[in-house]
Amino acid sequence: MRGAIQTATEQLDVADTASLVGLINRAATSLGGLDAVIFAAGLLPDQTQVNADSDLLHKTMVVNALSAMVLLNEAAIYFEHQGQGQLVAIGSVAGDRGRATNYAYGAAKGALEIFMSGLRQRLHKSGVQVLLVKPGFVDTPMTVDFPKGPLWASPQRVAEDIVRAMEKGRSVIYTPWFWRWIMLVIRHIPERLFVRLRF
Ligand SMILES: NC(=O)c1ccc[n+]([C@@H]2O[C@H](COP(=O)([O-])OP(=O)(O)OC[C@H]3O[C@@H](n4cnc5c(N)ncnc54)[C@H](OP(=O)(O)O)[C@@H]3O)[C@@H](O)[C@H]2O)c1
Repeated sequence: MRGAIQTATEQLDVADTASLVGLINRAATSLGGLDAVIFAAGLLPDQTQVNADSDLLHKTMVVNALSAMVLLNEAAIYFEHQGQGQLVAIGSVAGDRGRATNYAYGAAKGALEIFMSGLRQRLHKSGVQVLLVKPGFVDTPMTVDFPKGPLWASPQRVAEDIVRAMEKGRSVIYTPWFWRWIMLVIRHIPERLFVRLRF
């Protein structure tokens, strides 16, 4: 919120998707209009816990995929009517291929990518831009217990990339940029080899 001229807050649990209906209109009323909606909530559970707990699997899908879809659908209705606006969702490189260590989270982010793709095509002629951001490893509270290395980025670096992509009206970005090439390689590993790998 640093540098913001006006702010408004509302506390809610996005897993309760019914609470998202009406949120866009309430935000527009509080702020005097909307130019962009960025969905940044996310839940990265330990996949070994998900493997033993179907409720956690359900919550992972709801928080990372379904809630984003509901909120962005609400925002799409608002922006379509307005004739302009920007919809932004934070996906993940994890959505590019299912890995044993995080495939519930990855499946949700992958579903979100398909949703954003369809939304972008639907809104193409309406003046509404649709951006999916695919970060790699980012040093935030979500990853506080992860060992860090050279591939890690700061939230500031990712935020700068998001702002630049919004200004340029981009559709999909990897951030930092080098993840595009890392994921290109990972997506093309043959499945017979991929199942034997652990990373
Ligand atoms: N960090 C990474 O390496 C990384 C990589 C790729 C993508 N991403 C994505 O980037 C986005 C931002 O994550 P981050 O790294 O900044 O992690 P973070 O600090 O843990 O932020 C996640 C946010 O989601 C909120 N949230 C989680 N469950 C919620 C719920 N049920 N209702 C309402 N809010 C909820 C959290 O609120 P509370 O703090 O109140 O729980 C927190 O503000 C997420 O979509 C994440 O999946 C992160």
